[in-house]
Amino acid sequence: MKAIILSGGKGTRLRPLTYTGAKQLVPVANKPILWYGIESIVSAGITDIGIIISPETGEEVKAKTGNGDRFGARIEYILQEQPAGLAHAVRIAQPFLGDSPFVMYLGDNLVQSDLDLFLEHFHANSLDALTLLCPVANPSAFGVAKVDDNGRLLQLVEKPKDPPSNLALVGVYIFNNTIHKAIDAIQPSARGELEITDAIQTLIDWQSPVEARQIRGWWLDTGKKDDLLEANRVILDSCIDCQIHGEVDDQSRIIGRVHVGEGTKIVNCTIRGPVTIGDHCHLENCFIGPYTSIADRVTLIEADLEHSVILQGAKVDRVHHRIVDSLIGQRAYLTEAPRRPKALRFMIGDDCQIELSN
Ligand code: TTP
Repeated sequence: MKAIILSGGKGTRLRPLTYTGAKQLVPVANKPILWYGIESIVSAGITDIGIIISPETGEEVKAKTGNGDRFGARIEYILQEQPAGLAHAVRIAQPFLGDSPFVMYLGDNLVQSDLDLFLEHFHANSLDALTLLCPVANPSAFGVAKVDDNGRLLQLVEKPKDPPSNLALVGVYIFNNTIHKAIDAIQPSARGELEITDAIQTLIDWQSPVEARQIRGWWLDTGKKDDLLEANRVILDSCIDCQIHGEVDDQSRIIGRVHVGEGTKIVNCTIRGPVTIGDHCHLENCFIGPYTSIADRVTLIEADLEHSVILQGAKVDRVHHRIVDSLIGQRAYLTEAPRRPKALRFMIGDDCQIELSN
């Protein structure tokens, strides 16, 4: 059994962060999203992993993730020249996959369920494809599955106006080698991509054994800012222990589960967990509220923030408003004019979103 993780794509919904970096490397609770997928695959016993990368962000993904040693896996990188669709990514991975059955995992998805039971079911029933499903409130925004009482997949519909069920396709699939024939039989969709849903529908039309199973836990697709903040909330809720490696002075109050990294200094702050703070940060006179992740080398002076993700090297200096529900990019700098500002001064990158309120 092998696995491929799709870590190419355009990442348009997470601009401007994706102009300078891979969306799969954006940290959730201070760990790149992609690494959760790798860990889940390795814990299901699969150690032969191919990661699909794009020309724009591939080198960064490689440099950060390495050859797999840190995960106990062997990672090979597969360059996809154009983001021509999920099925196209499988096609270019075929030399790596050979005739092996494989897990396909979307590198920007987080899935709580263990994969073991699904893999067992796939093998025990000699399936050609097994898709994972999760009930959602707004099925029209997803690929939706119609399934019979025995779990047999009858139909897949992309973003249906009139959804046949509330079961959305999670970004994890298990295939055997027949999927390659199905991909050879499909044409690009209206948006010009080779769609994996079309390939699976082709298997269904060929009466191949294709099933779908519901996952038990949560599933998060981190493609947009609010999804990413929600993923950060869910992971912080379940995975953070109280660990203080840096220095916290006597004036500071740490409440609940808070992780403070090596070389980080906390001076006169109140931090109410769950919160994770990376290495070599400096926080002074701040209030940090729940569900906040602060990456390495961040400086926060007189800042008040909660339910936010702050990326590496960012600086918030004397902003006397509460910052909430925010995603602040690497090396971004936020400050307030010294006197009551009559004018606002900005240098804002393309596609940024700023909300001002009194
Ligand atoms: P999507 O989120 O569907 O596509 P995208 O990354 O282009 O994002 P956006 O819609 O914001 O422009 O992709 C799901 C995952 O698959 C994501 O990790 C990127 C990856 N992917 C590839 O590796 N190759 C591809 O051709 C496509 C379309 C996606």
